[in-house]
Amino acid sequence: MVAINENYLKLKAGYLFPEIARRVKAFSDANPDAPIIKLGIGDVTEPLPEACCAAMQKAVTEMGDRATFKGYGPEQGYPWLREAIAAQDFQARGCEIDAAEIFVSDGAKCDSGNILDIFGKENTIAVTDPVYPVYVDTNVMAGNTGAAVDGKYGGLVYMPISAENNFTAAIPSQKVDLIYLCFPNNPTGATATREHLQAWVDYAREHGAVIFFDAAYEAFITDASLPHSIYELPGARDCAIEFRSFSKNAGFTGTRCAYTVVPQSLTVKTADGTAVALHQLWNRRQSTKFNGVSYIVQRGAAAVYSEAGQAQIRQLITFYLENARIIREQLTAAGLTVYGGINAPYIWLQTPDGLSSWDFFDKLLQACHVVGTPGSGFGAAGEGYFRISAFNSRENVNEAMRRIVAKFG
Ligand code: MLT
Repeated sequence: MVAINENYLKLKAGYLFPEIARRVKAFSDANPDAPIIKLGIGDVTEPLPEACCAAMQKAVTEMGDRATFKGYGPEQGYPWLREAIAAQDFQARGCEIDAAEIFVSDGAKCDSGNILDIFGKENTIAVTDPVYPVYVDTNVMAGNTGAAVDGKYGGLVYMPISAENNFTAAIPSQKVDLIYLCFPNNPTGATATREHLQAWVDYAREHGAVIFFDAAYEAFITDASLPHSIYELPGARDCAIEFRSFSKNAGFTGTRCAYTVVPQSLTVKTADGTAVALHQLWNRRQSTKFNGVSYIVQRGAAAVYSEAGQAQIRQLITFYLENARIIREQLTAAGLTVYGGINAPYIWLQTPDGLSSWDFFDKLLQACHVVGTPGSGFGAAGEGYFRISAFNSRENVNEAMRRIVAKFG
């Protein structure tokens, strides 16, 4: 008899975003003329920067010529991309990160799940509540949790985040081993100060814990006092892995390119006290299970670091942040309580009239034909909240807000 990974049976039937897509499709099939506007999943709508397209077109031409054709590339990514990343995303901000510590990949979502391959099953894992569901679901799949009871999996330490703590978790009083932090935060749009991140770094170093720092939205930081990378904090090289993505800054959600930073100095002790470098394990994992990102896409990603690429991604980010400002202002004018949307492309709102997150989802879909993301999909503490994404055209954002203000204002 074939045995399956029964941990999958502990998961909710569908992952959050496909579940939303399923409900929207059912509504749209029943109401084919409804002009639906999707502000649910954080998927970009604006075209790729010209610099990236031009670089990819050139790369396609190279691939069609025997003299410049490329087969398998380095599993870790081409040196020219890793060097540009290290120099511009880290060294320019004073972080001591070397090109050899960058692992180019096809997505921060994949990496944040795959990273569990190099960790054991005995770790105590801390996540915020609400949280990006991938962190929780991948731990369930890996067998790191018990069953779900009232929306919470046994064995995980849930750190509640709410308006009372500025959506930043308190340092736990108990010892935890793996800590997931995401700033700017998905789903709440909150940010972390240097002091907050330093407290986490200090905790991790004191307890021998490892922080998984998801900085997929760092490009949306507008406040100059906020750190973009955890490596801006002293000591982080010894306790943190950082995930980055080209999806949200350069519009690569469909193109696929990201990277993970695993510092060489980050070591964990085995049961017999031997110090093992996580960099070495991740390198071993990636070279066995991954063949790298395509040459063409890496050329596109490298163009992000050209002068033109930097100017073009800045325009994209400014565009989505302006959408976020419009959403914030309009929802506030409609009498809703909103958070986020200043240094992040997500607006987190309290549902009106005490509606549950899914009831508000249905109401918004039926009455306004606008799709958002129910807060409860991000965890039990997200109940009564709702996320609106700023990733859409200006026309759609304006129209969605007009409908919401007309209904709720
Ligand atoms: C989201 O909507 O939370 C994002 O699209 C998730 C992701 O980037 O995987």
